Amino acid sequence: MSKLPESYKSLTYTQPSTDPHLTYTQITPSGPNELLIKVEAAAINPVDIQLWGNPVVGWLAGKKEKGIGRDYAGTIVGVGGNLKSKWEEGTEVFGLFSRPTAEGTFSQYVKVTDQDPIARKPETWSFEEAASVSLVVLTAYACLEWLPEAKSAQKRRVIVSGASGGVGIWAVQLAKKVFNCYVTGICSSRNADFVRELGADEVIDYSKQDVPKTLLDSRPNGSKYDLYIDCVGGVEMFNYWTEILHTDGAYITIVGDKTSRTSMGGPATYFTYPVQLVRFLRGYFFGPRYANILLSSKSAYLEQTASLAEKGEVKVVVQEVIGGILDEGSDAWKKVWAHMESGRVRGKIVVDIK
Ligand SMILES: NC(=O)c1ccc[n+]([C@@H]2O[C@H](COP(=O)([O-])OP(=O)(O)OC[C@H]3O[C@@H](n4cnc5c(N)ncnc54)[C@H](OP(=O)(O)O)[C@@H]3O)[C@@H](O)[C@H]2O)c1
Repeated sequence: MSKLPESYKSLTYTQPSTDPHLTYTQITPSGPNELLIKVEAAAINPVDIQLWGNPVVGWLAGKKEKGIGRDYAGTIVGVGGNLKSKWEEGTEVFGLFSRPTAEGTFSQYVKVTDQDPIARKPETWSFEEAASVSLVVLTAYACLEWLPEAKSAQKRRVIVSGASGGVGIWAVQLAKKVFNCYVTGICSSRNADFVRELGADEVIDYSKQDVPKTLLDSRPNGSKYDLYIDCVGGVEMFNYWTEILHTDGAYITIVGDKTSRTSMGGPATYFTYPVQLVRFLRGYFFGPRYANILLSSKSAYLEQTASLAEKGEVKVVVQEVIGGILDEGSDAWKKVWAHMESGRVRGKIVVDIK
């Protein structure tokens, strides 16, 4: 192991919704299936503030310190015995380290296992850019896994709602570059040009246009869409979804029927909004399919994204890098929290850990 400090700093909290504080932990060598990573940058996601404010998670985890952050980029400084044929010290990597009731990536060091999604950082990305990628890319891929097989020479048509946000920017780019689809992005006026530049073929401005009507009017010869990726939540589309999507198509949400930014979304809301379960069953038997999903934890997706980045085929969008998250008395946490709560971020917010 390279020369390491005896302990490292992390941002943690004990009780839900209380101000996070700094915690100091002793560094220990990597276990046989672990990599010790010196974190250079991390990113905030809505789920971080949702978990931080969630009383059930707080109750499950008890009074122990709980970390914040799931995305990271950094340098490998320790390699477990079983991983030496694949990884070596000094390699720059990015990945997802998701421990909802334990450590987070707003930390100088993390210890990941060979089960956590990880990939080599492309040279074309800074640490700050690489830190912004994993969670949102793995979610965008999970949505695109629901794309039906192409049945004709015509491009499949994908709709991305929330196209300017963290997941949306990747859903648009991957639908174009990896799946060769025709993409309609839904965003506000201020982000319309930005979403077009990401590759969207059409843009619908939700602040000015009637979204369902515009989608219905834009169907070429009345043919229906293949996939609706919902990164916003709500129920606006369900009066029209069988008209918008063909029976092999799918409406995939990563949020669910809820619209609050601070409450947990995803499949857990099948319990709180059982109508989603009815929709899932109806879609399973009769189509179009409906599902409220989680990200897909596959390193292969991160490797594929890194390779696209090296070829210049996709771009990373970081709206702001916030410094000082591990400084005593810093207001950095308040800033990142406010960005997530607002729901107005274009691309991603990153924190500098150096
Ligand atoms: N299930 C999962 O595994 C999973 C994974 C990741 C994220 N999520 C959830 O997915 C949601 C999105 O996450 P994210 O990281 O992509 O969020 P985000 O980056 O915070 O999304 C913000 C973006 O959404 C746009 N937006 C807001 N209201 C909109 C609307 N009505 N229509 C279209 N665009 C709108 C905003 O643009 P304007 O300011 O221009 O409106 C902004 O660019 C969150 O609720 C998150 O918790 C779930």
